[in-house]
Amino acid sequence: MAQSVKGMRDLYGSELRAFRLVEDTARAAFARHGYEEIRTPILEYTEVFKRTVGESSDIVNKEMYVFKDRGDREVVMRPENTAAVVRALIEHKLLGSSDPRLLFYIGPMFRYERMQAGRYRQFWQIGAESFGVSTPESEAESLLLLFEILKGLGLTQLKLSLNSVGTPESRPAFYAAFRAFFDAREPEYCEDCHRRIGENPLRVLDCKNDRCQKALEGHPLITDFLDEASKHHHARLKELLAALGIPFEENPRLVRGLDYYTRTAFEVLSSDLGAQSALLGGGRYDGLVKQLGGPDTPAFGWAIGLDRLASVVQQVKGEVGATPPALLVPLGEAAALEAAKLAQAWWDRGLPVQLDTRGLALKKVFASADRLGIKTVLLLGDGELAEGVVTAKHLATGEQTKVPFAEVPTRLSPAKA
Ligand code: HAM
Repeated sequence: MAQSVKGMRDLYGSELRAFRLVEDTARAAFARHGYEEIRTPILEYTEVFKRTVGESSDIVNKEMYVFKDRGDREVVMRPENTAAVVRALIEHKLLGSSDPRLLFYIGPMFRYERMQAGRYRQFWQIGAESFGVSTPESEAESLLLLFEILKGLGLTQLKLSLNSVGTPESRPAFYAAFRAFFDAREPEYCEDCHRRIGENPLRVLDCKNDRCQKALEGHPLITDFLDEASKHHHARLKELLAALGIPFEENPRLVRGLDYYTRTAFEVLSSDLGAQSALLGGGRYDGLVKQLGGPDTPAFGWAIGLDRLASVVQQVKGEVGATPPALLVPLGEAAALEAAKLAQAWWDRGLPVQLDTRGLALKKVFASADRLGIKTVLLLGDGELAEGVVTAKHLATGEQTKVPFAEVPTRLSPAKA
C-alpha cells in the first residue's frame, strides 16, 4: 500500500477544520490591522537561506531539502519564509520608500527534522512581517495582532518569552566573553558545540545535549553586553507591552535558531504541546534586507506553527465540529431534475444544501444522513412536486414540515439546517 512520505501527512476532518478555524481567525485579524497577503514559491535558490538563516544553524546544516533541478541548479524547499519574503520584496522593488509594508503569509515549510510529536517535515506557518519601521511601537503593534489572534481562538493563558539579542556591533564583546567561558570548560562540550563555538557562539546555547547544557550553567548573558540604544529599545518595548496588557516574561537565555535576529527576539511556548513546546517565534531582523541585496530596511515579524496551534486549539476547545448542510433528496427521475434546478436556484441565493444524487432507498438515505451528522433532510417526491413543496424532516426530533420551494432559502438558515 502506498503511503505518505515520512514526516508529511494528509490533513482532513477535524484537524483540517481546526487549521481552517485558525486561518480564518488570523485572516480576519490581518485585515483589521492592514496586513496584505504575500505568496512566494515553495522552491527557492539555496542562497536565499544559507547565509541569512545561518550556515551554522541546524536548519541550514542538517534540515534543508536541497536538490539539483533538471537544469542542474541547486534549489531548496523553503524551510521558513522570512528570507523568501525579503527576496520577493527586493526582486519586485517593493522596499525603499518611507511607506511601511505589512505582509502576512500562510503556507507549508519543509525541514528534514528528527521525528517527534508535534514536529513534522512538512509543517505550516502563519507569519506576519512588517518592513520599514524600527520603533518598539511597531513591535508592540505586531504583538498586539498576534495576541488578538490567540485570544480570538480562546487561548488566554499564553506568555511571551522575551529577550534582546543586541546588534551585530554589540556582539563581538559578548562572543569574546562567551568564548573565554567555553574555553575554561572545553572538554565538557560535545563535538557539535566545538564546531559551533567557532562559527557562531550563540548556537552553543541551542544544544540539546544535557552535558552541554550543564556545562553552560552560569554562562555570560547577551543582555549584559547590549549597547545603550538596544537597552533603551528593549526597555521601551517592555513598557509598551505592560501598558497594553500583553503578558511577557524576560528570558535572557533565549536565542533563536535562526541567525538574522537583531535586538528583540521572542517565543511563545505552550505547556499543552509537551516537549515540542514552541508555538511560535519571531523578532526583529534589521540586517536581513541589506544582506540579501536590498536597501537598508528595518523589519520585525513572527511565525506561528499552525500544526501546533491547531493542536492546542483542539485540546482547549475540543474537536472542531463540521456543520453539514441540509440534504436535498429527490425520489424518482422527474424529481431528480427538479431537485437539481431547485438546488441551483438556492445555491445562487447562498443557501448551503447538499444534493443527493445517489438514487438510494429512503432507509439508506436516512442512515447515511445520520452518519454524516446531517440535521435536516429535504424530501422531494411526486406528491411534493405536484404541490410545489419539500418535506423537511428534522432527524433529531423526527418532526416533518412542508416548505414551499420559494420559502426554503429563508426558512432554512444554516443555523437551523
Ligand atoms: P521558527 O522558530 O523556526 O521561526 O519557526 C516558527 C514556528 O514554526 C515554531 O515556533 C514552531 O511552532 C513551528 N515549527 C518549526 N519547525 C517545525 C516543525 N518541524 N514541525 C512543526 N512546527 C514547526 C521562523 O521560521 C521564522 N521565520 C519566524 C519569523 C518570522 N521571524 C521573523 N519573522
